[in-house]
Parts: sequence; C-alpha cells; structure tokens
Amino acid sequence: MILDSVRGRLAAWHTAVLALVLVAFSAATYAFLVELTRQRTDGLLVETARAFHHTFISELVIESTPDAAARHAAREFRFSDRMVLVFGAGGEQIASSEPGESAGGAGEPDAGGARMRAGRVGASGPIGADSSASRLLIGEAARLAAKAGPGAPVFGMLAGGEVRAYAEAVEVGGAPYVIVAIQHPGAEEAVLRTFLEAVAIAIPLALVLAGAGGYFLARKSLAPVVAMSGQATRISAERLDLRLPVANPRDELGQLATAFNALLSRLEAAFRQQRQFMADASHELRTPVAILRAEADVALSRPDRSPAEYRESLEVVRDAAGRLTHVVDDLFMLARADAGQYPLSPEDLYLEELLADCVRAMRSLAERRGVRLEYAPGAEAPWRGDEALLRHLVLNLLDNAIKHTPTGGLVAVELATEESAYAIRVRDTGAGVPPEAQSHIFDRFYRADRARSRAEATMTSGAGLGLAIARWIAEAHGGTVTLESTGPEGSTFLVKLPAAALQPA
Ligand SMILES: Nc1ncnc2c1ncn2[C@@H]1O[C@H](COP(=O)(O)OP(=O)(O)O)[C@@H](O)[C@H]1O
Ligand SMILES: [Mg+2]
Repeated sequence: MILDSVRGRLAAWHTAVLALVLVAFSAATYAFLVELTRQRTDGLLVETARAFHHTFISELVIESTPDAAARHAAREFRFSDRMVLVFGAGGEQIASSEPGESAGGAGEPDAGGARMRAGRVGASGPIGADSSASRLLIGEAARLAAKAGPGAPVFGMLAGGEVRAYAEAVEVGGAPYVIVAIQHPGAEEAVLRTFLEAVAIAIPLALVLAGAGGYFLARKSLAPVVAMSGQATRISAERLDLRLPVANPRDELGQLATAFNALLSRLEAAFRQQRQFMADASHELRTPVAILRAEADVALSRPDRSPAEYRESLEVVRDAAGRLTHVVDDLFMLARADAGQYPLSPEDLYLEELLADCVRAMRSLAERRGVRLEYAPGAEAPWRGDEALLRHLVLNLLDNAIKHTPTGGLVAVELATEESAYAIRVRDTGAGVPPEAQSHIFDRFYRADRARSRAEATMTSGAGLGLAIARWIAEAHGGTVTLESTGPEGSTFLVKLPAAALQPA
C-alpha cells in the first residue's frame, strides 16, 4: 500500500495539510463575501429608501395628496431587482413600484439574474405580477413596516430569507408613512455561487496536483535512500571495502551516507586488525609447535636412545610447551581484555611492597644474566588496584629490561609520587630501543629484535605481547605506560598510576 512508503506518507500528509488549509481559507473567504454582500445590499436599500423619500417629497409639489405623490414617485422607481413599497399609518399599502419590463431610466432592463430570482419568489413571472407569492411578500413587508418607528428603521429578511428588506418611517406632507425597500441579493448571490462552484473544482484539482507533485518530489529526494539500501545489502564482512553512494555530502541524506561510510571504515579497520591478530597469533603459536614436533620426531627417529638423550629431548619439549603456554596465556588475556570481559579485582595494597616482591622474583634471572638489580623501598605507598595484574605489568617491564641489558649492566626500579600519581620507573643500561621501533614497541606482536637474533628471540623473549599487555593493565587502572627515554646508555620505562584509581568511594 502507498502509505507503507515514506514518500507515500509524506505526500499524503502534505496533501491533507493543504486540503485543511484550502478548505479553511475558502470557508473564511466565503463568510467574508457573504458579510460583504449583506453590507452592500443593506447600503443599497438605505440609499433606495432615501432617494425614494426625496422623490416622494418633490412629487408633492405637483400632486394634490401625499398618497398620489407616493404613487407617482413609485412609478419612477422601477428597478428590476429592487422594489419600493409605501405603507400608510394604518399599515395599508399606498403605493408599490413594480419591477418589470419598463425600467424607469435608472434600472437594469435585462438583468437576467433578477428575473430568475423573481421567478423563485413567485411560482413564475416577476415579483410585480399579481401572484400569490407577490401578495405574500407584500404582507411580510407590511409586518416589517409596522416594526419601524420614527427615527428607528429596521432591516429584515422576507420570503423565507430570499430577499432583504429595509423599512423606514417618514413624514411627508404632515402624514406618517413607512417606506419599505426590498432588494434581491441580486448579482452578488450569483457571485457567491460562482465562488462556491470555483472552489469545488479548484480545491480537488489543487489537491490532486499537490499530491502528485508531493509524491514525485518525495520520491526524488528519497531516491538516494533507495540507492543506499540497495548498496547496503551488498556490503558484507567479505566486501567491507564497498561504500554507500554519497549524492550530496552537505544534505541530510549525504551526511547519513557519510556517517555510515565512516562506520564502515572503522568496521573494516577493526576486521583487518582482527585478521592480523589471528594471523600473528597463529604464526607465534606455530614456532613452538614446530619445535615440539621436531623434537619428538628426533627422539623417535631411532629406537635405541639413552635415557640422557630422552631427557634432553623432554627438556626441550617442556621449554617449548612452557613458551606455548605463555603465549596462549597472553593471547587469552588480551582477547578477554578486548571483549571487555576481564574483571578487575581491586584490593588495597602497598606499591613499595609489590615492587619489592617483583624484584625478588626476578633476582635469579638477573643473576643468571649477570645483571645487577636494584631497588630501595621508600615510604609507604598505599594504593588500590588489581594486584595480580599490576604484578604482571611490573614483571613484564623487568623481564624486558633484564633481557635487553648486557652482562655487567644495571636494572633499577624507582617509585616516586608526582602530582597525585605514582610514578614507577624501570631503568636499564641496555642498548636502547632503535628509533624506528619506538613507536611500535607497544603494538601487539611487535619485536624490534625479531630479525636480529631469531633463535634467541624465540627462546628468551615473548611473542611481542608483553608491552601491549602492560599498557592495557595500566589503562585499565586509569594510568599509562610510556617509554620515557631511550638511548645507547639505556632505556627508562615509566608507569604512571593515579593515586586515586579505584579508591573505594
Ligand atoms: N628495556 C628495553 N630495552 C630495549 N628494547 C626493549 C626494552 N623493552 C622492550 N623493548 C623492545 O620492545 C619490544 C616489545 O617488547 P614486548 O612487548 O615485551 O615483547 P617481547 O618482550 O615479547 O619481545 C621488544 O621486542 C624489544 O625490541
Ligand atoms: Mg617482553
């Protein structure tokens, strides 16, 4: 159905509102015309009565009696659409001007409308004919005349509202009379009828035109929406590179399409990132799995192996499995963090104690590598946060620092309070992060030394997820991790934790 489309509804509303406006406007205009006509008619009646009064008075000069003067004057007043009646003091009819064939100069001899109207008053023929309708009209005029007092003229409708009448009491030659002027609404009524007829044709016509015009306009302006929805059905996860057509980027639909395209771009980027993550993750998992396989193959290739050889193989297998576990754990943590499903369990703790614990845990690794590990716990640093995660963060930084520091070097941990935040610094005397790698070390799977020593990297460093995880943990606590400085003398990683983070309210 047509109302199921936006353009149909738009056109329908538009037409309905227009119909309302047109009808209201026409009704108001009609009422105004009716009132105007009535005022005009009344003015004409008053004028006719006054003019008759004058003629009446001037006829007195010639005629012997006022009654004869009235009759004479009445003969002068023959209009096709007006009539003057004169009544005496007792309500008796003295004179009447009969509208008719011989107009006395001032009339409108062939006002067809007037004749037609006269025909409606009487059954047939003009008012003046001695018909029953004519007598009825004169009787009503007499009743109206009786209501008019001296200086108090009255208006009235006669013949069931068909004609308008005006009665005015006058004194001519010392005798009281009432002059009644009767007026058919005349040409004015025809004008009103014509107006109604015109409106009855014009309004439906205007509505049809407006409806059709509105429909086509709506269709034209909504065409981009149709084009957009057509294109949108073609966009899928495999075809995220497709974009919606933007007809005019400045109008509302263009803005919608632009916003939609921006959304698609973000989705596409997210999808690409996801695919990259999957590819990187499987790549990272492949290496330890390959080692496991190769080691097992070697061990099984000959039936006669010594227990020492088996032991050696199993140690390699254990290390590779450990590394696999490590990577899988890191991946799992990041995946849950991405999904927003990693619940923090904040608890009250002391940062200086936590740092001392971490340093203690890394001591053996540092000793094995011949690296000095320094930390001098200072004042109490109470804080609230997820202890396990924070430990993970610090251990990651220490692990990196120790691994990137040559034998005889130093790794130092410092804790300070800066502007209502705790600052944890992990300094080392390693070779530093190469300039081209500095902006990437926090990216997932990024390892600056991947190419440098593949074998060593595989065995000692992680999958390049350590710093990405560290950054996530800090941000989950409202803090940051940055590479504060780096160079040939060493690097400093800075962890900033807002002192108020996760404080109980
Ligand atoms: N203290 C450091 N000194 C020099 N380079 C570092 C240091 N810490 C991290 N890096 C660089 O940043 C990269 C990313 O670190 P990380 O995310 O922990 O991954 P991974 O430790 O698995 O290599 C490392 O491969 C290394 O190149
Ligand atoms: Mg690391």
